[in-house]
Amino acid sequence: MAKPSKFAHIVYRTRRFEEMTSWYERVFEAKVQYKNPALAFLTYDEEHHRFAFGNLDVLDPAGKGSAGKSDAGVDHVAYTYASLRDLIETYTRLKKLGITPYWPIRHGPTLSLYYKDPDGNRIEFQVDCFATAEEANAYMRGEAFSSNPIGVNFDPDELVEQFNKGVPEDQLLARPEGPPAPIPREHGLAPNGRLLPDAYASAPGASSGAAKPGRYADGRFGALSRSRPTGVL
Ligand SMILES: [Fe+2]
Repeated sequence: MAKPSKFAHIVYRTRRFEEMTSWYERVFEAKVQYKNPALAFLTYDEEHHRFAFGNLDVLDPAGKGSAGKSDAGVDHVAYTYASLRDLIETYTRLKKLGITPYWPIRHGPTLSLYYKDPDGNRIEFQVDCFATAEEANAYMRGEAFSSNPIGVNFDPDELVEQFNKGVPEDQLLARPEGPPAPIPREHGLAPNGRLLPDAYASAPGASSGAAKPGRYADGRFGALSRSRPTGVL
């Protein structure tokens, strides 16, 4: 049975976005790999990210939690498999048990399958798409990730079929060009994967640096060109 080769990262939902990212930067002496007003990715070692933070004030400004309980907290934890073969083997084994992912997504740095446990806790099973940490880090800081920090959905059964047919692994791991996939509601971060321009513009930090709306208005996402994808890993 294939087992994860490592624990990879944890993602938090927060309404103290700046405070949280700053705290983790200081406590773990972590560096910011990528940040926009809605999402931040940090790492403290060679892994492309060890923490990510979703800013609920941007992603879900109307949400306030329920029954006095904060909606901040853990969004998901992620485990890495050593190879695509191991991830596929796990997917196939779980499918036979009636356990299927709610979100298969090619993030770019990783190819990922998100599951929920019986309590609704989210688990990401992933495989790295790049052979080295340097390549993954370069990708996360590059234009492809900046243009689409969420990823492109895929059909896991189709992936299994292609893998069994002998399609080369690097081909199967490469993220195709495409607009950012909508974030499923059950992922807990946002009602959809895109921000309205006004929501984005009102986000803390939106007036500075790379996060400025319109800066990405290059037409690649058509009607979305005035908005900014939020990015989730
Ligand atoms: Fe993740």
